[in-house]
Amino acid sequence: MQEMMTPATTNGMPRLGMPAPQFQAQTTHGTIRLEDYKGSWVILFSHPADFTPVCTTEFMGFAQIQPELRKMNTELLGLSIDSVYSHIAWVRNIEEKMGVKVDFPIIADLNKEVASLYGMIMPGESKTETSRCVFVIDDKQVLRAMIYYPLTTGRNMDEILRLIQALQTSDAKSVATPANWRPGDKVIIPPPLTQEAAEERMKMTGVERTDWYFTKKSLEG
Ligand code: BEZ
Repeated sequence: MQEMMTPATTNGMPRLGMPAPQFQAQTTHGTIRLEDYKGSWVILFSHPADFTPVCTTEFMGFAQIQPELRKMNTELLGLSIDSVYSHIAWVRNIEEKMGVKVDFPIIADLNKEVASLYGMIMPGESKTETSRCVFVIDDKQVLRAMIYYPLTTGRNMDEILRLIQALQTSDAKSVATPANWRPGDKVIIPPPLTQEAAEERMKMTGVERTDWYFTKKSLEG
């Protein structure tokens, strides 16, 4: 029987757990293809427009967390519907006025190709600008997380770092992470899926068990 293919996008929206939509784009670092990043995690993020104040604070924030992201094998890739000349002028201005060097590539998505592929334009907010979207793509190029923020609200860099830490911890240790989890906090052991496993879970030692379905453990020591 032929296997049903699940499309990577539905109604122009990408889907978690599916291969990230592939693209080739012009950037401030030359032409890049998403597939060039295989083996690294990628944060693909959009902003509404160059030379706008909230976006400027976000760009400084992304530049400041870049060293921490690199330690987690994660690269940044920005995008807006502005030209490469505008991007270059803006990052030069940020360095001159704010003293922050932005040295991750920024896609000049003038024909909205990548924005359409990833559903970055929210026509209810703006038909000509991308919203504040974040797509986390893992080292196998699977889309792992999406964050969408409106034009008026700058994103939280700590949350973006925390999200990468949480996803990589879940992958490495086969665990989940509770609300407000931070590295060093206890993690959640995924709930048992059979009655027998539930009974086993009740006998498990060295864990913080509230009930059969709710057990935490430390990853330290
Ligand atoms: C800003 O980055 O400041 C901004 C951009 C678009 C709409 C509103 C604010």
